[in-house]
Amino acid sequence: MNIKDLFINFFISKGHKQIPSAPVVPENDPSVLFNTAGMQPLIPYLMGEPHPYGTRLCDYQKCIRTNDLDAIGDTTHHTFFEMLGNWSLGDYFKDESISWSFEFLTEHLNIPVERLAVTVFAGNDLIPFDEVSYNKWLSLGIKKERIAKTVEDNFWIAGASGPCGPDTEIFYFRSNDEIPENFDPEDERWVEIWNNVFMQYFKDEAGNVTELPKKNVDTGMGVERVTAILESVNDNYKSSIWSDVIDLISNISNLPYEGNEESMRIIADHIRTAVFISADPAGIKPSNTDQGYILRRLIRRAIRHAKKLNIDINSNWEEQIARLLISKYKKYYSELDSNEVVVLEVLKN
Ligand code: SER
Repeated sequence: MNIKDLFINFFISKGHKQIPSAPVVPENDPSVLFNTAGMQPLIPYLMGEPHPYGTRLCDYQKCIRTNDLDAIGDTTHHTFFEMLGNWSLGDYFKDESISWSFEFLTEHLNIPVERLAVTVFAGNDLIPFDEVSYNKWLSLGIKKERIAKTVEDNFWIAGASGPCGPDTEIFYFRSNDEIPENFDPEDERWVEIWNNVFMQYFKDEAGNVTELPKKNVDTGMGVERVTAILESVNDNYKSSIWSDVIDLISNISNLPYEGNEESMRIIADHIRTAVFISADPAGIKPSNTDQGYILRRLIRRAIRHAKKLNIDINSNWEEQIARLLISKYKKYYSELDSNEVVVLEVLKN
């Protein structure tokens, strides 16, 4: 079963309601060009507004982050990604949240406990050490050597201001090396897979931190990373999310993936993001400003790398890739199906 279905079914069994993925272009939030995390469309509800679906929510959300565009081409970065999330809006807090994350990872995804490590908030002048999360992880069987305490990396906020709070991040040891006894979050063999944010504060633009009326939980887990882990591949593009897209690019260019990884990853990544942006109900077209500029940049960069691979850019190469991506995702995102003609037209132009 697909990880998205497993995740949603699990949280429904814990009393959550599934909410639909919001569009990639935020509907009521001009502060960002794209949704960058599952929590973004939920900000009004995290701030206290009642959500029509209740106090326990889950979803998979389309996200776009273009701040590290230049990192695209490596094995793990993507401009578009899907984030799995569960939320408590003033309902459960740290205890259930951590227990369920642990249960889902170890019993439903069958990840061995020895491969897991976590970080918790160490505390600073304003906010104390997160002892509740620390003790909870210990009680579940995570050894103290595998629990790191940090300040900077264990406080989550979407931008400069907004709802925020201490978090606990879950890491997976993604390497064939022997697993070290002591967990070092800076050791790149440990990759972060899931973040549980305990959102209990609001930081205003002047930097003042106040308690939110209700304590919330906001979690996020990246579909691409977890899929790669479950399929035991060290390159996300070798997972089932991408392997057929890479095979198609290899076919179109008549070149092997090995030796041409960077260009093939950039083409695959950028075309996927361009497909999702142009299928969005906001009706974005390539332009000189805002989302349209990002879309134009992504398409241009994909073309540049297609040229590098000697792909005939006047052929229908991008249409073939887009069609494959649409067929893979339309079950989850119906707008890809209904806006297929628009997407193909944008790419062709
Ligand atoms: N908002 C948090 C994150 O993006 C958890 O979803 O990591």
